[in-house]
This record gives sequence, C-alpha cells and structure tokens, in this order.
Amino acid sequence: MTDTTRDTAFALTRRTMVEACAATAAVTGLGIPGAGGPASAAPAPGDPAPQMMPMRLTVNGTPHDLILDTRTTLLDALREHLDLNGSKKGCDHGQCGACTVLVGGRRINACLTLAAMHEGDAITTIEGLGTEAALHPLQAAFLHHDGYQCGYCTPGQICSAVGMLAEVEAGWPSHVTGDLTAKAVLTDAEIRERMSGNICRCSAYPNIVAAIRDVAGIDL
Ligand code: FES
Ligand code: FES
Repeated sequence: MTDTTRDTAFALTRRTMVEACAATAAVTGLGIPGAGGPASAAPAPGDPAPQMMPMRLTVNGTPHDLILDTRTTLLDALREHLDLNGSKKGCDHGQCGACTVLVGGRRINACLTLAAMHEGDAITTIEGLGTEAALHPLQAAFLHHDGYQCGYCTPGQICSAVGMLAEVEAGWPSHVTGDLTAKAVLTDAEIRERMSGNICRCSAYPNIVAAIRDVAGIDL
C-alpha cells in the first residue's frame, strides 16, 4: 500500500467514524433538526449527508419510534438505539449467527438487514423469549446442559434454535434430510446441519445439540 493509499484509507475510516457518531448523536436527540437538540457539526465537503428516517420498530411486543440513518442495520438499531444488547455483534458480516433474532417467527441475521426494512414486523430478541422467573424452554435447556462457556454466541444460538424448530415443525427439509417427502426426524446430524449458521468459538456444540434435542417435540 502506498503512502497516498494509506492516507486515503485512514481518511475514509475516520470519516466513517464521524458519520456513525453523528447518526448516534442525532438519534439521541442531540443533532436532528427539529429534535430539540443543538445542530451537529457541518459535514466535510463532499461527505454524503446521512438520510434520516422516522420508523416504528416493534420489538418484543413494544413499539419504539426512532429516527435513524437509513443505513442503520437492525442489529445496530437494537443494540445502539434500543439498549437491547442481548443480540451480539460477532462478525457483522452474516458469518457467525451471534446476531440472530426472530422476525415474524423466522430467524434472520440482524447484521445483514436494515432497520428501515422492518417497520410493522414483529421482532423478537433474546430479551423477549423468556423472563428470569419463567425461562423459555430452550433457555432452560441451555442452562441445564451447560450449552455455553463464554456465552457470547448463546442469545443467537437460542433464537436460531427457536426458529429452526419452527422450520422443522413446518416440514422444511435440510441438506441432510433423507426423505424429502416426510417430516424430518430431528437427529443430531439434522440439528448440527440446521444450526450450522451459528458458530460457537468455545465449541460448546455437544451441549448445544443436547439442549436442542431435549426441547425438540415440545410445543413452543
Ligand atoms: Fe451477524 Fe455475525 S454478527 S452473523
Ligand atoms: Fe463462547 Fe459460544 S459459548 S462462543
């Protein structure tokens, strides 16, 4: 990399940071025209202005009115703007599954979708699955089977497992399903295949599989 290229890369990184900070400040009421806060610093010449958009996100049954940069991912909206930090940012590239949430009952990677695309959707995060007093059966099974070590991947694993069990219930086959005309039997191989989008760096896989196997067949 030449010095010029390196300088340009640094400038872009710094500019991205400034834009991100500006968007966050805006949503907290510090910089949105009409939001009652002081005006934010003028963007540098040539910077694209953030496009702010009002939206209502319904998360765990509660509607939230937000004004977000249209580029805000659902994951950042949840974590940075709604203080729902259960969903984790592992890779931010759709590769680890740590950010998995349920939208309309289906599991998705919240880092790969824009918040603005989910107005009117029922979004469920790990915070909405159960309570300390009444854990979701999968939360209880993960505890019972020690289905985690550091726990970083666990919210995504559990949300993914909820969605995955619904897929099995609906008759969706997986890559390892033998008979595509019959409802899949949830063998360990099926569980591993269907959960393969959720990476556990601690390799708690045997216990994760055991926890899910316990809950399979329960009416969730
Ligand atoms: Fe979304 Fe890794 S953070 S898949
Ligand atoms: Fe540590 Fe899964 S428990 S990454």
